[in-house]
Amino acid sequence: MSPQPDGIRGATIVGTGMYVPERVLTNADLERVVDTSDEWILERTGIRERRISAPEEASSDLAVIAARRALAMARVEADEVDQIVVATTTPDRYLPSCACTVQAKLGAKNAAAYDMFAACSGFIYGLGIARGAIGTGLAQTVLVIGVEQLSRIVDYTDRNTCVLFGDGAGAAVLRPCAPDQGILSVSIHSDGVLGDLLEIPAGGSLRPASIETVAERGHFIKMKGKELFKVAVRGMEESLRKALDRAGLAPTDLDLIVPHQANQRIIDATRERLGVPAERVIMNIDRYGNTSSASIPISLDELVRAGRLEPGTRVGFVAFGGGATWGATVSRWTMAAPLDGKPANAAVAALGGTR
Ligand SMILES: CC(C)(COP(=O)(O)OP(=O)(O)OC[C@H]1O[C@@H](n2cnc3c(N)ncnc32)[C@H](O)[C@@H]1OP(=O)(O)O)[C@@H](O)C(=O)NCCC(=O)NCCS
Repeated sequence: MSPQPDGIRGATIVGTGMYVPERVLTNADLERVVDTSDEWILERTGIRERRISAPEEASSDLAVIAARRALAMARVEADEVDQIVVATTTPDRYLPSCACTVQAKLGAKNAAAYDMFAACSGFIYGLGIARGAIGTGLAQTVLVIGVEQLSRIVDYTDRNTCVLFGDGAGAAVLRPCAPDQGILSVSIHSDGVLGDLLEIPAGGSLRPASIETVAERGHFIKMKGKELFKVAVRGMEESLRKALDRAGLAPTDLDLIVPHQANQRIIDATRERLGVPAERVIMNIDRYGNTSSASIPISLDELVRAGRLEPGTRVGFVAFGGGATWGATVSRWTMAAPLDGKPANAAVAALGGTR
């Protein structure tokens, strides 16, 4: 069965890249900042350390490094990119978009560029857009980036949130493929009624920046962690099951699941509900914390470069985030594992390496 309607092409990832800043912030470092402990953070979240950007680094700088690595792996030039989707909650500025800044830095002069505001689910939403654009022929080459500098919007006096988040970027280049390959299905959802579970109260049109909003620390993340935890587990299970249904697969058919890295306990609970063995579920939250939209493409790039994905590998991505937003994709991987660090790109080879 082809998961795509007649006349719709498939879309597949032909290159990945990631970048995390050099500075490491450990749990022990945080013990000196707020009333917390390495033991509490590790037990309640699975996090040991996270990366923090240098003051002079902007989100676009992280994004550009990840994007260049993805383009190099795909052997695609920047001017071949038709669309750049940057999933972020921490753009360099609100105007212009982070994606336009990334476009300029990459020299991707033929690309349409725009930001995707879907919090931690942003990369999944971006993959959905890329698949639609490629499937309908609107684009041949789409660059999807997840980038966050959450350290810039985290309140380091609030122990409920400051231990969770980190900075980083991940990117993927997508191109056409056969309809039964690549991204087989996408399932994305949102529920604005849950909006105040994770918010930045000030700085938008509702409460523009003022001396009062700064004094109230209104430009930082506020989170209702316990409530989020429950809806996250439900949403991740629901969306992955829907994506699997659309692809005609069961949870145990997946060789690998790459979940958004919000909390090890959220991932464990989701995995148990799906009945999938732990060794199939990717976890790197101990090293990076929650990097929001960047967490899935960072994990993905690590998997690709470690040679853990082969043509035919069935892989699920699943995320939940502020908004609330949630979603999943199911893919049949098309890229061969890297030889000497350079992946042989089956999908591009099959297309003659052309646009
Ligand atoms: C935030 C989270 C780790 C808290 O874990 P939890 O088991 O739910 O903990 P609780 O909220 O019940 O807090 C338990 C206690 O630990 C305290 N606590 C919170 N953060 C702490 C910290 N860093 N160090 C020590 N204690 C802390 C709380 O104040 C509370 O104390 P109290 O009982 O005296 O009030 C968890 O709820 C979570 O991960 N939620 C989802 C977050 C998320 O995914 N956010 C991003 C959206 S994708």
